[in-house]
Amino acid sequence: MNAMTMPDAKAIEQAVTPAGAGYFSVRDIHAYYGESYIVQGVSFDVNEGDIVALLGRNGAGKTSTLRTLARATDPELKKGEIYLGGSAIHTLRDFQAAQKGIQLVQEDRRIIPGLSVEENLVLAQIAEPKGWPLEKIYEHFPRLAERRKQDGVTLSGGEQQMLAVARALARDIKLLLLDEPYEGLAPVIVQEIERIVQQIKSLGITTIIVEQNAVAALELANRALILDMGQIVFDGSAKEVLDNVELRNKYLAV
Ligand SMILES: Nc1ncnc2c1ncn2[C@@H]1O[C@H](COP(=O)(O)OP(=O)(O)O)[C@@H](O)[C@H]1O
Ligand SMILES: [Mg+2]
Repeated sequence: MNAMTMPDAKAIEQAVTPAGAGYFSVRDIHAYYGESYIVQGVSFDVNEGDIVALLGRNGAGKTSTLRTLARATDPELKKGEIYLGGSAIHTLRDFQAAQKGIQLVQEDRRIIPGLSVEENLVLAQIAEPKGWPLEKIYEHFPRLAERRKQDGVTLSGGEQQMLAVARALARDIKLLLLDEPYEGLAPVIVQEIERIVQQIKSLGITTIIVEQNAVAALELANRALILDMGQIVFDGSAKEVLDNVELRNKYLAV
């Protein structure tokens, strides 16, 4: 799709034909918190190895969309289909989606209190199928290796984010969903997390990254999606969004 696209369910539907479906295919999903209709017919396709920036103003529905994709019970998916590598995800519960390789790193990072860094990682590896072994994780995250015995919740914000990403890698990962990984982190730590996401990119792990810092996300991503009021209003290249000030002013306020 080219340039800016207004919410037009029809046009988006046409872009997503089963024949042209990507590695990860989201087709017309609708999700609710109780009576609250939040995710309003979202469709998009992602190729294997893509880094997709999912952008939009506060309250646009980014977190709700990621949670729906990871098959959280809240919001509730009432209509639509999700496929990863051709297998249906919309029929699964969250733990089953995780077994299929969909790993959501939530904004609050969900570090388990009372457990050391290493215990947090080992716990992630209890479930099959396993991902990276501990040695490989420590090789990529030397800071976590240094703090392996430390209680996870006593880590700095940046280190907790590293632990959250490392824990996702400890599982067999096919699609990584990152919700605002830079939130609340100092600029130098943001750079460190960016390097980690770059490594993930070089490993070919398909990633959807939600970020308030749109420019940072767009510099990392090759694709961009913009959500507004629970609908996709732009689907195109990251460069198109970086170059289109009007589009950014309208939907991102950056
Ligand atoms: N647990 C919830 N119950 C009811 N409404 C919610 C809940 N979480 C989020 N919402 C509403 O859903 C909309 C989208 O929120 P969210 O997905 O968090 O947006 P974003 O991540 O883009 O900031 C907002 O209007 C928000 O108030
Ligand atoms: Mg959010």
